[in-house]
Amino acid sequence: MPKVNHLDNNIKLEGKRVLIRTDFNVPLNNGYITEASRIKKVLPTIKFLVNSKAKIIIISHIGRPKGKNVPSLSLEPIAKKLKDLLNKNVFFLDKTVGIEVVEKSKKISNGEILVLENLRFHKEEELNSESFAKELSKNGDIFVNEAFSCSHRAHASVSEITKHIKSFAGKQLTEEVNSIKMITIDAKKPVSCIIGGSKISTKIGVLSNLIKKMENIVIVGAMANNFIKHKKFNIGKSLFEKNAENLIENIIKQSEIHNCKLIIPNDVIVSKDLNSEGALKNLNEINDSDIILDIGSKTVEIISKIIDNSKTVLWNGPAGYFEIDEFSKGTNEIARKIAENTKSKSLTSIVGGGDTVAAINKFKCFNDFTYISTAGGAFLELLEGKILPGIKSLEINE
Ligand code: 3PG
Repeated sequence: MPKVNHLDNNIKLEGKRVLIRTDFNVPLNNGYITEASRIKKVLPTIKFLVNSKAKIIIISHIGRPKGKNVPSLSLEPIAKKLKDLLNKNVFFLDKTVGIEVVEKSKKISNGEILVLENLRFHKEEELNSESFAKELSKNGDIFVNEAFSCSHRAHASVSEITKHIKSFAGKQLTEEVNSIKMITIDAKKPVSCIIGGSKISTKIGVLSNLIKKMENIVIVGAMANNFIKHKKFNIGKSLFEKNAENLIENIIKQSEIHNCKLIIPNDVIVSKDLNSEGALKNLNEINDSDIILDIGSKTVEIISKIIDNSKTVLWNGPAGYFEIDEFSKGTNEIARKIAENTKSKSLTSIVGGGDTVAAINKFKCFNDFTYISTAGGAFLELLEGKILPGIKSLEINE
């Protein structure tokens, strides 16, 4: 982490209004939170602030309302969830800036929590507006960025705001940045990376950066279909990204130059559709009506050996359509193997991305990895070696 102010025990917080930017962009279904990892992750920081007798003012966005007030994207359910998780009263105000908010932020007692309305109901948030950031900054005496997963966005509440209020890096944000950076800076070798997901173009920056630093890169998920196709095998009706030939060739070339072993599946589970049974096939057995939905058992074995021979593993992206049990075996086996080796202490494991977090939640092994990042885009951009605006804005200029 560059030089930043850290939120720690040395800061006098009693009676101070702490404006904390969180990423409570969680999946909602009819006002019901279907996955709460991002909320649970910030609880230690909120509890620390409660115990420090600060007045806690929480800001976040949910979804992409594009500057409009969209009731289904209100933060009210988040305030209710926090109340349940903390077993403590949590106030909610259906406003984000203005006199009423400032007054309420001053009126709550030490150790109390106020959640404000969705930042993105104001178009100025995504425009990184100076005046909006100034307004927001009036809601606190100090600002804490505890939203690593939003820190790749140059938005008012993560970027511009730090110019107008004394700002600190949150404990979770610091831990997340350090854990992810460790992979590319001082990870114990051999380092292996398992990358899945559907679109190769969204992961190309990460692959190009990691190829120079890793011993093995394993490609799984729909992304692997492009590589299977490149090897001139039929992929039937499987998902693949169009016009990605140059990207594939470039990755293969880079892996040769940097002596990084590139592993793609050599057997797969196919089906006619998501509701039918899966069949194990070698690559040369795939026919025109098949859809590849998971990796096969030989591939699982190869990946398991790679994990066994690694000291550090980075995993981002499921191996198949894990949401359906029939096609979840590959992802489940990868999760179990990484978890098992992490617990036996031989392996440092960093796991990240929304789908991967959903998978490990499904397989009930959320606590079995060295570090889990709930970030999507920010996780990938940091691995690409990019400078994130939300982190940059916390840097102290000496
Ligand atoms: C995320 O879910 O990755 C963050 O909350 C950022 O959301 P965004 O992609 O809508 O900016």
